[in-house]
Amino acid sequence: SNNTTSFTSVKSLTESPQLTSLPPSYTFRTSSDDEVVSEPDQDDPIPIIDYSLLLHASPDQRAKTIHDIGMACEQWGFFMLINHSVSNTILENMVDHVFAFFNLREEEKQEYAGKDVMDPIRYGTSSNVSMDKVLFWRDFLKVVVHPEFHSPHKPLGFREASAEYCKRTWKVGKELLKGISESLGLEDNYMERRMNLDSGFQMLAANFYPPCPQPELAMGIPPHSDHGLLNIVMQNGVSGLQVLHNGKWINVSSAPNCLLVFVADHLEVVSNGKYKSVLHRAVVSNKATRMSLAIVIAPSLDTVVEPAKELLDNERNPAAYVGMKHRDYMQLQRSNKLDGKSVLDKVK
Ligand code: SIN
Ligand code: FE2
Repeated sequence: SNNTTSFTSVKSLTESPQLTSLPPSYTFRTSSDDEVVSEPDQDDPIPIIDYSLLLHASPDQRAKTIHDIGMACEQWGFFMLINHSVSNTILENMVDHVFAFFNLREEEKQEYAGKDVMDPIRYGTSSNVSMDKVLFWRDFLKVVVHPEFHSPHKPLGFREASAEYCKRTWKVGKELLKGISESLGLEDNYMERRMNLDSGFQMLAANFYPPCPQPELAMGIPPHSDHGLLNIVMQNGVSGLQVLHNGKWINVSSAPNCLLVFVADHLEVVSNGKYKSVLHRAVVSNKATRMSLAIVIAPSLDTVVEPAKELLDNERNPAAYVGMKHRDYMQLQRSNKLDGKSVLDKVK
């Protein structure tokens, strides 16, 4: 072992010595046999939104797309985004550099083993090692990229790849939030103005899930919802993401270059519960390394997030959540065990 490292990553655990069974500290469940996981129902498929119709279409097509986005947010809290304008070159370049980061030597990565949850660059494992009784089968890199851009200085080219990817997904997020605002009956620039997106918070969260010797006993990330307004996720073509829909876990196996969009907690709050943040989790496999990359699009840290007054009505639709500063919400989330919607429940 090496005294400059402060935790054992899943990746290093799987490399030396060769693991043949799951260590007890990672044993999340006794088996997944009794669990029902479904493929999407043919009559109720995962919603697919064509981003190009939001930008370059006739007013009618745009109106129809905004309606579809509203339905997706209401019924799933989740949709797949196609024709999203982020080129395959930019996507693939980002995936390559995320892999290159996790493939650095452990000591190089541990330079970013943050102690403070608000550190702008944090490399870690599980969620909160000091609090997680059972560890998750994943390593992560979290980087704040807006309003101030941060990046690890290794590997070579990471900064450029990330700057490009983050700029593109920020634009996608802002355009989606315009459509979402309209779908709620708000002005299209509602989020931009009220969530202070000019100084909005954007974070890149890369998850790395090495092959697991007993995947049915482990968990990559247990059920949770995300903070922020939207979470835009891509994955490396290895499935593992599941979303909860009408009480059932649904496998999401996306086409390689499509983006997955999650309604996150703050959008649930602003919409006063009309749109629900989606519960999701990641399971792992014994065959391949899975990587996912989440881009959190969120209000500025100083914004007090509360239900939009324009949507409230004392009698028919009273506020169902209390306001909370984004910074405080994030602190709360990071000092809590990752557990379903336990943080959102605190503002109800
Ligand atoms: C996430 O929880 O944001 C990402 C889950 C995944 O697909 O790995
Ligand atoms: Fe998540």
